[in-house]
Amino acid sequence: MKALRFNGDVLVTGANSMEYLKKIKYNKAFIVTGGQSMFKSGVINKVKEYLGNDEERIFVYSGIGKNPTTEEVKKGIESIKKFEPDLVVAVGGGSPIDAAKIIALIYEYPELNVETLTKSILPEKRYKTKFVAIPSTSGTASEVTNVSVLTYEDINLKLGIKSPSLRPDIAILDGNIPMTLPYNIAAETGMDALTHAIEAYINKTSDDFTEVLAKGAIEGLIEWLPISCNNKDIESRQKVHNYQSMAGMAFSNSGLGMVHGISHAFGGKYNLAHGLTNAIILPYAMKYNSRDKEVFKKFEKLSTAVGFNIIEKVESLNKELGIAGCIKDAGISEEDFNRDYDLLVENSMCGSTVANPIKIDIEVMKKLVKTVYNGTEIDY
Ligand SMILES: [Fe+2]
Repeated sequence: MKALRFNGDVLVTGANSMEYLKKIKYNKAFIVTGGQSMFKSGVINKVKEYLGNDEERIFVYSGIGKNPTTEEVKKGIESIKKFEPDLVVAVGGGSPIDAAKIIALIYEYPELNVETLTKSILPEKRYKTKFVAIPSTSGTASEVTNVSVLTYEDINLKLGIKSPSLRPDIAILDGNIPMTLPYNIAAETGMDALTHAIEAYINKTSDDFTEVLAKGAIEGLIEWLPISCNNKDIESRQKVHNYQSMAGMAFSNSGLGMVHGISHAFGGKYNLAHGLTNAIILPYAMKYNSRDKEVFKKFEKLSTAVGFNIIEKVESLNKELGIAGCIKDAGISEEDFNRDYDLLVENSMCGSTVANPIKIDIEVMKKLVKTVYNGTEIDY
């Protein structure tokens, strides 16, 4: 038996779909966003307008950084407690959405502590607030997942918190919002989404539902991501926005794999963008994982679907999007790598590596970490 969840109450999609906010009945709305970009692009003003522009009933909590910290979340909790809303609207990249998820959770369950969330048993549901997520980037799929990733600065670690109560009630995929994404952000976040889809597709716990969503997302992203990066037109940006969300629905049910495990180790140590490290590591991990019979068969299916060898296709997509071929070429010096090597190997064994279709032991990981750093062939 497997219990699947794909999203909350509603998923709204299409250009100008943010107008759906007009339909939501509420008493007080608490908007959570990042730094300046959503203000500058006029998105926050539009959100306020669609909510009725009532200054007394709307509060904007802004300033969530690139990687949401526990301190930013704690400040948000203080704010939300004072304002007492029944609606939370998270607008921006994965970071403000992830932060808002925890702010809404602890607002309702004040006995929970941000510092100990990863070790706590979390409630299944929220009742106090309706939660709307409006993503501005096309990659994390936080708007449909049950995950929030917070940065615990004191221990220098990014930790994922998982609970059904963290899944937004309403996801709004308005293609107009990611229209302003610059080329490299569109490319890297799109490759994060492709990694989600591929890791979900080959995960041993995948099922008929998650496989179809993941395979559809892979085919869609391969077709539309380069167009979206190069042309920046509404059709392709909306397509990528939709496919990344499908990838999120798939992976939050079936889990990921060692691309994310190794990626978090390098990203955490050198502050490299998550999508970039995923994109670099993905083809190497695919080659290693293809020695598993079931994974090999799935890659064959994908190759037939896209009309090219799927691993070569991912490599050529990376090249086309200007993604480095290995971590060294992304600007990490040999001196730094050699000094941090043991820690990188140790951290790469954690997180999603545990869910990889082939179990990875430490001796193999030692080789894989060198492979993705130097860009060498996998001959082991
Ligand atoms: Fe990811």
